[in-house]
Amino acid sequence: MRLTRTERMMLRGDMGEACRRSMELLLAIADAYGYGKLIKIRSAHISGISYKNIGDSGLEFIRDLAESGGFVRVKATMNPCGFDLDKPWLFDVDEEFYKKQMEIVRLLKLMGVEETLTCTPYYAGNNPREGDHIAWAESSAVIYSNSVLGAYTDREGGPSALAAALTGRAALTPAHTDEGRMPEVKVKVHYKPRDYADWGLLGYVVGMREPRLIPLLEGVKAGSRDELKYLSAGFGASSSAPMFWLKRGEGCEGGVIEVDVSEVKSVREKWSLTRRPTVVFIGCPHCSLKELRSIAEELKEKKVRRDVKLLISTSRSVYERAVKEGVEEVIRRSGGLLVKDTCLIVSPMRLSKSDVILTDSAKTAHYAQTMTRAMIALGGRRRCLREAVES
Ligand code: F3S
Repeated sequence: MRLTRTERMMLRGDMGEACRRSMELLLAIADAYGYGKLIKIRSAHISGISYKNIGDSGLEFIRDLAESGGFVRVKATMNPCGFDLDKPWLFDVDEEFYKKQMEIVRLLKLMGVEETLTCTPYYAGNNPREGDHIAWAESSAVIYSNSVLGAYTDREGGPSALAAALTGRAALTPAHTDEGRMPEVKVKVHYKPRDYADWGLLGYVVGMREPRLIPLLEGVKAGSRDELKYLSAGFGASSSAPMFWLKRGEGCEGGVIEVDVSEVKSVREKWSLTRRPTVVFIGCPHCSLKELRSIAEELKEKKVRRDVKLLISTSRSVYERAVKEGVEEVIRRSGGLLVKDTCLIVSPMRLSKSDVILTDSAKTAHYAQTMTRAMIALGGRRRCLREAVES
């Protein structure tokens, strides 16, 4: 293993026990998946924050590092946790869950991780520049940062992203090298996404076709940053690749596959809405301010049905701006619930067989179908809002 002098000091424990343990974890990854080397990073983004997902063992892992003096060496942000810290009652949180979740957040803050609680850290000040090496967990943010922002990160897990934050290093793996990021399959796309749900669905279908390969998408007109965010989230939900390419001058040496309308339609049909929704969920990944403005516009002078929970999730930084602009008030007055810090998937919200979840996110549809017996449906944003309000 080729280590610098500082890295050897970290490994000896000269910079504290938490740093030593983190180095051990990173070196094991570098040994198994990488080039036997570490790389300096500019930022980390840590997932595995919700008590629902990590349970007691995850909490103890974080506590051990915090109590062994761990402190971040680079900018580090947190993924969503199990509830909105200002409105925990909306998420069926019991006392034990509340206490343990708050403890996770407290320990991470103690180590210097910023309490961003969002899967869109790039809206919350953790904004990598092209060419930056970073260590991010949270698949949608990883795909977005690699494919849209031009940063270099592997798909870290929560523990390795935290270890990276505490050492300022990540294992050098193929995703951190130009040759490891070459497109491996060309995907000719004969489908024009019209709304966010379509963009997410396209990413999801592409990921399903070749789940381990880096695709070069041909025939896709680069959309807005928000559209690319949904493309990234959908792709990250069905693929294990670290990124996609939209444009690449040198082309691609791998095979060619085609994705057409009928293929996208058949996945969409699986998530058709056949009953009235009881929960409408928007904001996976967390909504931008631009999205919230347009949702508020749609909800103006409308009322959310009494038998529907309309949940819209965003980051706390965007939420604060939405409050200042009056956007939050419009949503609240309509009966919609604008929440921050969490989402439907990482919260312990109770959903039963009789519930029907309508969402415009392929990622939420994908994960919700594995974690609940509720019926899952995918619809465009307009449709989601239309179904949520009184006619
Ligand atoms: Fe974010 Fe939750 Fe979706 S963490 S990407 S809103 S599943």
